[in-house]
Amino acid sequence: MIPFNKPHLTGKELHYIADAHQRGQLAGDGFYTKRSSEWLEQTTGAEKVLLAHSCTAALEMTAMLVDIKPGDEVIMPSYTFVSTANAFVLRGGVPVFVDIRADTLNIDETQIEAAITPRTRAIVPVHYAGVACEMDTIMEIAKRHNLLVIEDAAQGVMATYKGRALGSIGHLGAYSFHETKNVISGEGGALLVNDPSLVARAEIIREKGTNRSQFFRGQVDKYTWIDVGSSYLPGEIIAAFLWAQLEEAQQITANGLAIWNDYHRAFETLEAEGRSLRPFVPAGCEHNAHMYYLLLKDLAERTAFIETMNQQGINCVFHYVPLHRSPAGVKYGRAVGDMRVTNDLAERLVRLPMWIGLNSACSQGINEYFSRDHLNKSAHGATNWSPSS
Ligand SMILES: Cc1ncc(COP(=O)(O)O)c(C=O)c1O
Repeated sequence: MIPFNKPHLTGKELHYIADAHQRGQLAGDGFYTKRSSEWLEQTTGAEKVLLAHSCTAALEMTAMLVDIKPGDEVIMPSYTFVSTANAFVLRGGVPVFVDIRADTLNIDETQIEAAITPRTRAIVPVHYAGVACEMDTIMEIAKRHNLLVIEDAAQGVMATYKGRALGSIGHLGAYSFHETKNVISGEGGALLVNDPSLVARAEIIREKGTNRSQFFRGQVDKYTWIDVGSSYLPGEIIAAFLWAQLEEAQQITANGLAIWNDYHRAFETLEAEGRSLRPFVPAGCEHNAHMYYLLLKDLAERTAFIETMNQQGINCVFHYVPLHRSPAGVKYGRAVGDMRVTNDLAERLVRLPMWIGLNSACSQGINEYFSRDHLNKSAHGATNWSPSS
């Protein structure tokens, strides 16, 4: 059986966990929290990085930080994980879904302005598969309309846009270290605060609404409740695990990219023959090999593919059910435009196993499937678009 995901361990995790235990501070903001956040600040250029329990938690912090009030609108893609929207709905916000680009599956920046109303507060670009959204355009739109940009960079750790780390370009960014990501701590995440004016309040929100962080730095002589907040600070055991991963993050990414590139080469003919489309990475984007996917002709073909692959021991999966069609998305959000690309591609995308140690047996098995007779129609013909559209 070739699993879809296999968490990668560097081998140092238990060593650092034992060290954290030895040091005697198990709550957060100790030695390993500081080490990990400083490393992330240096690597991304973010003004401040605060570790969190998850990317979900980091996104919830952003919603508090930008003061989302009931009825405030937040523009985002529908083709994303629930937390992108849920974080804002928790504050009474309204997710406003716009369509995605057919090439990267990221928010279609040309459709953002049509979704802006007097209630719009923020834009949340999601960097799907660690491939950057068109950030220059998004930042320019936000500036013109006085909106905040919160990057959902859950999948974007170690990926860049025009040389800048994903998550460090908007006013705020959120990372995930969930075990399905490249750099992991089981559950885990981080908030990247890029706008210096938001740093002090971000610390307070993470510490249950108190100024405890300032107290520990000796900046105030007692700490107290001064704002809304919650418990978002992970303990030292998680941070120690994360440190073992962060110090190998470059190698982890390089190893992932080697597997991604092998896949890409292996499916070149498949795409040339019009049987499937491969992921597209625009110029100026360095991705992190978080995911490899194929776009098949239609839902029936994808269902047959996944079934056959799973029977053969290759665990392939589909991805998001578009949020604008999910029960909570219908209840709490609204879509702008016809969502044509989202509706189409959500039914055709299949994610392939992606983990360090995966060998070519997987791409061979997939190529064999396509070489069989029952799939000789063109995937391109089905929708009339090409990977560079
Ligand atoms: C785009 C996106 N946002 C948010 C999340 C939530 O991340 P976490 O599991 O760390 O809360 C995920 C997780 O897969 C994701 O893919």
